[in-house]
Amino acid sequence: AAMIPISPERAQPARAKASTLDQCRRCDLWQSATQAVPGTGPRDARIMLVGEQPGDQEDLAGQPFVGPAGAVLERAMQEAGLARDSVYLTNAVKHFKWEPRGKRRLHKTPAQREIAACHDWLEEELHSVKPQVIVALGSTALKSILQDGSAAMTPLIGTPLQHDGRWIVTVYHPSYVLRAPEEENRRQAYRVIVEGLQLARKLLA
Ligand code: URA
Repeated sequence: AAMIPISPERAQPARAKASTLDQCRRCDLWQSATQAVPGTGPRDARIMLVGEQPGDQEDLAGQPFVGPAGAVLERAMQEAGLARDSVYLTNAVKHFKWEPRGKRRLHKTPAQREIAACHDWLEEELHSVKPQVIVALGSTALKSILQDGSAAMTPLIGTPLQHDGRWIVTVYHPSYVLRAPEEENRRQAYRVIVEGLQLARKLLA
């Protein structure tokens, strides 16, 4: 049978040009990070999931959501019937922000100026992938997507929002499922994520 060549553009997953992103100096986070972590996934994905920033393992691997939060997210995606390789996965901030705690690198929440400095990279991914639905995983993602540093996450949980011609679905960050002090909160946060991912599927035109 004749081989039909597929264009390199379709064969390649959409990835921000890693070298350019890695050279970003729009804020200072590059100084203590191993590398910038670009988004990953099909360039025609209809759903984009936006996290906060790479964690310790993502910083080392150069891939988003490969650590413990990624495992929670993966389980939630499976339960919602969403294949991981069908969605585009990225972060609001592309460099890992951390502080030393003994031998460990402890995650630090990015400051608004760092979220804003990194926004153009997310905008580039949105422009290239053109998702119909964005799932904001937590408050940092929501602030970046809405370009509003005072955006409040809690009132938007479970309520999809139309923004710039696409749907935004807001859920808790998957690491909250690991970290919330009460078992009941962890369980509820996980349900919110699963239901948000199911809602994202339903919102596809
Ligand atoms: N948490 C995030 O928000 N993003 C990752 O890539 C990993 C953990």
